[in-house]
Amino acid sequence: MSNNAARYDEVWRAAEPYMRARKNDIHVPLAFHWTLQLLEHYPQANRDVCLLAILLHDIGWWAIDMEDIIQQGFRGENPLQSDVRYRHEVEGVRFGTEVLRKTGWSEEIIAQVCEIIDGHDTRKEPRHLNDRIVRDADKMWRYNVTGIAIAADWFGKTPHAYAADMESKVAWFETPEGRAIAEKELAVTKKALMFHVL
Ligand SMILES: [Fe+2]
Ligand SMILES: [Fe+2]
Repeated sequence: MSNNAARYDEVWRAAEPYMRARKNDIHVPLAFHWTLQLLEHYPQANRDVCLLAILLHDIGWWAIDMEDIIQQGFRGENPLQSDVRYRHEVEGVRFGTEVLRKTGWSEEIIAQVCEIIDGHDTRKEPRHLNDRIVRDADKMWRYNVTGIAIAADWFGKTPHAYAADMESKVAWFETPEGRAIAEKELAVTKKALMFHVL
């Protein structure tokens, strides 16, 4: 790969068991590629930190029962502040630390990656540029056909209703490039899934 993303293959392999939870094996590769796209606009960001953080940000879901994830993490009163949301962040830091140590990353990198993973859904404001990039890449699949196909079911909505909800929230992107990619994805989705009739 010309963008040197193969540098992280060993981490993918070490994290592979955790990818078999909550469709991480679809969500995370997609988000990883959007992170690569965003990084092209931000050479001053820390590439290793952003890519490792997105790769590992959701592996904590592996420790949590899928039924609890759906009921509390997606359909509960306040899904983004639910217990399972906090737990997936805490477990993500734990598993992420193990994976990064096993694959030989420095404690300095591990600390920066874990700082982003811890609170990536529940923290109100991002802390810095690396955090902002990861947050934007994480949200992006909500605008893409594949992501909508999966998330609409989790939230118990039709694809159109879910996408309309996401469209109303597009201001939550941290970077103008993130927002632009999301809008482009959504335009493709609307056409592909025929929202003018469905
Ligand atoms: Fe998450
Ligand atoms: Fe995520």
